[in-house]
Amino acid sequence: MIALGCDHGGYNLICAIKKYLDKKGLEYKEYGTFSEESVDYPVYAYKVATAITSGECSTGILCCGTGIGISIAANKVKGIRAAVVSNEFCAEMTRRHNNANILCMGGRVTSEEDAVKFADIFLNTPYEGGRHENRVSMITDIENGTLPITDEHEDIHSFVEANLIERIGNPGKKLHTGRSRNDQVALDMK
Ligand code: RB5
Repeated sequence: MIALGCDHGGYNLICAIKKYLDKKGLEYKEYGTFSEESVDYPVYAYKVATAITSGECSTGILCCGTGIGISIAANKVKGIRAAVVSNEFCAEMTRRHNNANILCMGGRVTSEEDAVKFADIFLNTPYEGGRHENRVSMITDIENGTLPITDEHEDIHSFVEANLIERIGNPGKKLHTGRSRNDQVALDMK
């Protein structure tokens, strides 16, 4: 079951998403709002987020004007990984790598056609698990205040910090990995 929620700024997108879900014969539950009258997005973020954490729904789609406010609010609920998406790549990667359980989009920044495309990708992309599992578990650890920061993590922080400082001084410069830009992008994907 898919939980749907929006504020007035995302109402148009949720209507488009509903049409798509109807066409696909996918089940959904609506948590409002139901018009373009101004409302407060945290209310709808909370309703959809708790529908997921209670087990009533397995995944959710939330829309506001930008997708940002409603995602920030949803992410305050333990167990929620809400991702603001504005392109196809992110719609896919946030499922594959982050195991996102709510897709967030903005009615003032994303067209209805694109929103349907992103929802289709999001709903049909599996979580990869594997090396990402540890990272997703670390997000849960942050929620629980139990994230262990080890010396190894501290070393990585210093490495990244040192490289960032150098790049800010000379933005065109490659990182100290001896890799080409493409290789670096591939590296960043790991
Ligand atoms: C409402 O005007 C607007 O602030 C809301 O839809 C959303 O964009 C917040 O992030």
